[in-house]
Amino acid sequence: MSFFKKTKNFDKLPEHIAIIMDGNGRWAKKRSLPRTAGHIAGSKTFKEIARYANKIGLHYLTVYAFSTENWKRPKDEVESIMNILRDYLRDTKNFKDENIKLRFIGDTDVLAEDIKQMIAEAEDDSKNATGLQLFIALNYGGRDEIVNAVKKIVDSGISSSDITEDTINDNLYTKGIPNPDLIIRPSGEYRLSNYLIWQSAYAEYWFSDILWPDFKPKDLDLAIEDFNKRNRRYGGI
Ligand code: IPE
Ligand code: IPE
Ligand code: MG
Repeated sequence: MSFFKKTKNFDKLPEHIAIIMDGNGRWAKKRSLPRTAGHIAGSKTFKEIARYANKIGLHYLTVYAFSTENWKRPKDEVESIMNILRDYLRDTKNFKDENIKLRFIGDTDVLAEDIKQMIAEAEDDSKNATGLQLFIALNYGGRDEIVNAVKKIVDSGISSSDITEDTINDNLYTKGIPNPDLIIRPSGEYRLSNYLIWQSAYAEYWFSDILWPDFKPKDLDLAIEDFNKRNRRYGGI
């Protein structure tokens, strides 16, 4: 019996949870701190939640760290988010020791060379981990992902009559990853903000007013408990 089953009263753990890590700026504002302080606090929460997800035996966790639209933010905020990412990547050895497999989804080609290098190393270092599969969505946009998939499909020369949903699935960043079962968005916003828009067609959603830096393992428990009450019909009865 797993740790999870012994300690929690959930019938089922979703296979894949996706989180929109939102509310860092408002968390900082409430404390009269610069927005960067909110992003630093948010990155601590991210590490804690990833470890907890691994501990309870979750298979897949995908977190939204930076969207294709977040480049609209002031240059210094973008730079500080990238620096927090650098700090995190320097620290990924800990994740490897915890048996977490780390991967990135999104258009990482346009990122700074040193970040690309660190991403490649972190992915390679953890590639044999057998615990949680942790995906970080970075410069990720669902529409951008679909446009890229369409380009790849057209370039492959496939005949339109041979195109199926699997053709699309196989050309997304999330190729081979099961669709998210549960999407969590804290911070009181009720939108997807271009996150996993193809993949979430039948996801369950859990919203909360908690700002991401205040999000705790117990909140993940609440979301999973709620998920357990849902009746997923997929259009059936
Ligand atoms: C999420 O927090 C982090 C990123 C989008 C990078 P925000 O920075 O969006 O925080 P709020 O929404 O302004 O509070
Ligand atoms: C979504 O949050 C992106 C991330 C959490 C990385 P945003 O704060 O960018 O979303 P909007 O602008 O409120 O829709
Ligand atoms: Mg936000």
